[in-house]
Amino acid sequence: MFNGASILITGGTGSFGKNCTKHLLANYDVKKIIIFSRDEYKQFMFKQELPDHRLRFFVGDVRDKYRLKRAFDGVDYVLHAAAMKQVPTCEYNPIEAIKTNVDGATNVVEAALDAGVKKVIALSTDKAVNPINLYGGTKLLSDKLFIAANSYAGGKGTTFAIVRYGNVAGSRGSVIPYFQNLVKNGIRNLPITDQRMTRFWIGIDNGIELVMKALEFSRGGETFVSKIPSFKVTDLARAILPDCGFDEIGIREGEKLHEIMITKADAKFTREFDDYYVIYSHLDIDHVSTVLKSSGKELPEGFSYSSDSNTWWLGVDELSELCQNIKII
Ligand SMILES: NC(=O)c1ccc[n+]([C@@H]2O[C@H](COP(=O)([O-])OP(=O)(O)OC[C@H]3O[C@@H](n4cnc5c(N)ncnc54)[C@H](OP(=O)(O)O)[C@@H]3O)[C@@H](O)[C@H]2O)c1
Repeated sequence: MFNGASILITGGTGSFGKNCTKHLLANYDVKKIIIFSRDEYKQFMFKQELPDHRLRFFVGDVRDKYRLKRAFDGVDYVLHAAAMKQVPTCEYNPIEAIKTNVDGATNVVEAALDAGVKKVIALSTDKAVNPINLYGGTKLLSDKLFIAANSYAGGKGTTFAIVRYGNVAGSRGSVIPYFQNLVKNGIRNLPITDQRMTRFWIGIDNGIELVMKALEFSRGGETFVSKIPSFKVTDLARAILPDCGFDEIGIREGEKLHEIMITKADAKFTREFDDYYVIYSHLDIDHVSTVLKSSGKELPEGFSYSSDSNTWWLGVDELSELCQNIKII
């Protein structure tokens, strides 16, 4: 479906954007991929890293709807990855986070409708589920804007869907490079906020795979959630330094003990497929009931998908192997 297509990635110079661009160029005969982001230097560096005649670079800010409208002209698919995503930064600069993550989402919706884009896939996070920090709050609003946009797309045919995943293993500033650095500097007691803490494990390739599935299968209004394993943060520390001690430093503001992807309330609107779950939009209830009756597997009463109640776990040995081969992105 991507052969001959024009695809635009907002935040195309970020971890997701760069890896997804490489995946698309390697696997499809796309017409062009437009990288939309603010910093010309990051674009310059990406151009050097990946010289390919199908790449286009567009400097712009998602806060600027006129620039988005210009960029979306003739585009078939939009992947919306531009975001402010550092929890503390968003907490201390709330208006900036709202401008990028919420106003930016509104602008992407409007520009996509005006330009007649076929599909928009917006990236979400587990932090948008029952949010306790501003980052999660802005991403929840962004998700709601994209889902609602399907109801006012009218006859234009543009559809919007969400892909939700957790912290990407090895992304800059994440816990693995942080622990690895401490160990390199001779630290033997690793700082753990709470020894009970659990997280989901997702690699960037799984994230890209799910976005590809969403592009192929979404009809509008779905949230795609990967089926991925969980791990205990203490096991991750032991995987990096087997005889480490722990310094329990206490849970930080805006941090959860366990992450959640699908709440009990959403589970009623969710169906299970082989590698992922799909939460259907509550808005278009007639359509939803038809889909729910016809596809995927029903979830048991009281189901929720959280990092502590997951049935798939990574132990120390598996984590150790994954950490040894991890690419910092
Ligand atoms: N990484 C994770 O662990 C993770 C987990 C779950 C969900 N997600 C979601 O996945 C998406 C992509 O994350 P990522 O890890 O690729 O982020 P990233 O590496 O920080 O990249 C962010 C990208 O967005 C661009 N950007 C930021 N503000 C912008 C603005 N106002 N206008 C236009 N472009 C802007 C940045 O480039 P410039 O600064 O040059 O503009 C950069 O290209 C985000 O929506 C994030 O919430 C990420």
